[in-house]
Amino acid sequence: MKPIRKAVIPVAGLGTRFLPATKAQPKEMLPLVDKPVIQHVVEEAIHAGIESVILVTGRGKGAIENHFDVAYELEDTLSRRGRQDDLRQIQAITQLGRFAYVRQGEPLGLGHAVLCAQPTVGSESFALLLGDDVFDEADPALSALIKAHHESGVSVVGVQQVPLEHVSRYGIVNAPPNGDRWWKVHQIVEKPSPELAPSCWAVVGRYVLTPRIFHHLLALQPGVGGEYQLTDALAKLAEEGLLAATPIPAKRYDTGNKLDYLKANVEFALKREDLGPEFKAYLKGLTTSF
Ligand code: UTP
Repeated sequence: MKPIRKAVIPVAGLGTRFLPATKAQPKEMLPLVDKPVIQHVVEEAIHAGIESVILVTGRGKGAIENHFDVAYELEDTLSRRGRQDDLRQIQAITQLGRFAYVRQGEPLGLGHAVLCAQPTVGSESFALLLGDDVFDEADPALSALIKAHHESGVSVVGVQQVPLEHVSRYGIVNAPPNGDRWWKVHQIVEKPSPELAPSCWAVVGRYVLTPRIFHHLLALQPGVGGEYQLTDALAKLAEEGLLAATPIPAKRYDTGNKLDYLKANVEFALKREDLGPEFKAYLKGLTTSF
């Protein structure tokens, strides 16, 4: 089976859960300590062997393109000031991989965003990473999905168990665990109520999709909330017996959600050699005074 070379990362959403911060800047550029969320996601893709990253952008998302582009004036200034470490760090971002950008004119949903990437993806299987879901760097999520795709030969969604009261925030699968790396998906439902959820296994922002997905995306009708839902196209793959799920063991942070974003910042800072020890001491002092 051919290697997965391309990753699609949709970043055209409005980020309304994170207002007012996202009024004039992309939520994907919010930093975890000092690195934008989107850079964490791109680095996970590159780590898993991806060569080309296709970002689906929209109005007001120019900062993302600039972040992965050459910053000539900054590089020149850092070079003249002899700040070689900073210079290397800035240049490494541009050299992460090949970048392509396609526009989604209106944020009509994740399904529509993925369809916008079709001409650039072509007829090969590709990875899909949501631009605001970040996994623990020590244990990258996408590599696990690519292995499951190569074993199963079909499209794969990454899943994690969530509390029953949270199932209505996710696409939920009926995919009985079988002790193997991947499980056949019999059914997938977008944002079900707890009573109707087929399980507590939620789809969590990482996918490997065959080009068959475009066939179903092209036939989509607007679903929940008037948006073109990727889940509806995945449901068609499940009906055809062409969808698998694989559990992602890595810890996940939905950085589009304010509480998860705060938790991610604290945990990423605590793991840093340069900041961790001092920050830990500060937090300990803080907890005794609250
Ligand atoms: P979300 O639903 O988390 O993003 O979509 P959102 O719509 O920006 O967030 P809220 O709910 O208003 O706060 C997951 C990912 O899919 C992208 C988003 O940018 C995000 O990275 N997306 C979503 C698109 O690219 N286009 C869309 O039409 C919708």
